[in-house]
Amino acid sequence: MVQEIPLFKKYPKLKTIPWVSVVNTPTPIHRMEEASRELDHKEIWVKRDDLSHDVYGGNKPRKYEFVFAEILRKKKKRIFTQGAIGTNHGLATTIHAKRFGLETHLFLTEQEPSQIVLENLLCHNYFGAKLNLMKSKRQRRRRIRTKLFFDNSAYFVVTGASSPLGTLGFVNAAFELKEQIDKKEIPEPDKLFITVGSLATCAGIVLGLELAQLKTQVVGIGVTDPSWSSKKATIELANKALGLMRRKDPSIPVVSKKLEKRLIVDHSYFGEKYGASTEKALEAIRIASRDDLKLEHVYTGKTLSGLIDYIRKGKINKDEVVVFWNSKSSADLTSYSEKVNYKDLPNEFHKFFE
Ligand SMILES: Cc1ncc(COP(=O)(O)O)c(C=O)c1O
Repeated sequence: MVQEIPLFKKYPKLKTIPWVSVVNTPTPIHRMEEASRELDHKEIWVKRDDLSHDVYGGNKPRKYEFVFAEILRKKKKRIFTQGAIGTNHGLATTIHAKRFGLETHLFLTEQEPSQIVLENLLCHNYFGAKLNLMKSKRQRRRRIRTKLFFDNSAYFVVTGASSPLGTLGFVNAAFELKEQIDKKEIPEPDKLFITVGSLATCAGIVLGLELAQLKTQVVGIGVTDPSWSSKKATIELANKALGLMRRKDPSIPVVSKKLEKRLIVDHSYFGEKYGASTEKALEAIRIASRDDLKLEHVYTGKTLSGLIDYIRKGKINKDEVVVFWNSKSSADLTSYSEKVNYKDLPNEFHKFFE
């Protein structure tokens, strides 16, 4: 029997879309007591997607529930995917794909080798990813295209698994939030802050909240280049996911126009470039740590810094309920990375450690 995930409960006709269980759901939701005190704002809440899986949680596993199911349906054996050397998506793919007997090949471009980046790189190796260092995105595109041409058993997963299918994982997450509201675990939120990188996380949430008819406004904090993580591109992806759903169930309403009103995408907290830290993100990480949350400066620190700034600037009313969606896995990876000697990685990766 197909497990009754919130999306399938709402739209039973969607059960024909392949789905596999990856996430520990529902992820908890609770107040950020210390942050509320510090910012003098009573209703600050956090949705703990950082706890979505014991080995590696965060936002990615939600997307894989639909993406991996499709790969298995197509009887593929290998995943090709891409990112920078410290890619969270690549690592999460490697870890979760293994459970389904799928091998992951990562095509990686260079990035600043921070401690987190190097830890991820060692973990790629620990969990068995096949690593390929690419000189440029262009070379990467060509290499993947050629390899796919010669390998019928391989499936290409787009950056961040942000396909329309991956987006369904977050439409489902919005319905999960609705169930938590119905159970009175949290009052209906006025605003929800979420990270916008490769788009599917925010796109799915906006679409899901609209279909669930919640009043919640979404503030997407852009952490990749604004030309990439734009509002327009986010809405386009949400509409593609809606199209996919409507092909299975034409009774699902066409809500495209309403999505525009529900979403703000704000790049004011992006800083110099993708991955670069900001003072505000570092402050947000400190504030979150008092509520025992482990954030980082590339994604979640910037997103929470946006929420804090909106409160300080009075862009959120005193009595509004505001949710911070914590999308970065908080599972500790050091016990894995410590077991890897960087010299076990292909030669071209050694320079990042030397
Ligand atoms: C930890 C984390 N949070 C949020 C995001 C943003 O999600 P999405 O890529 O679906 O926009 C990413 C990836 O970009 C991420 O790694």
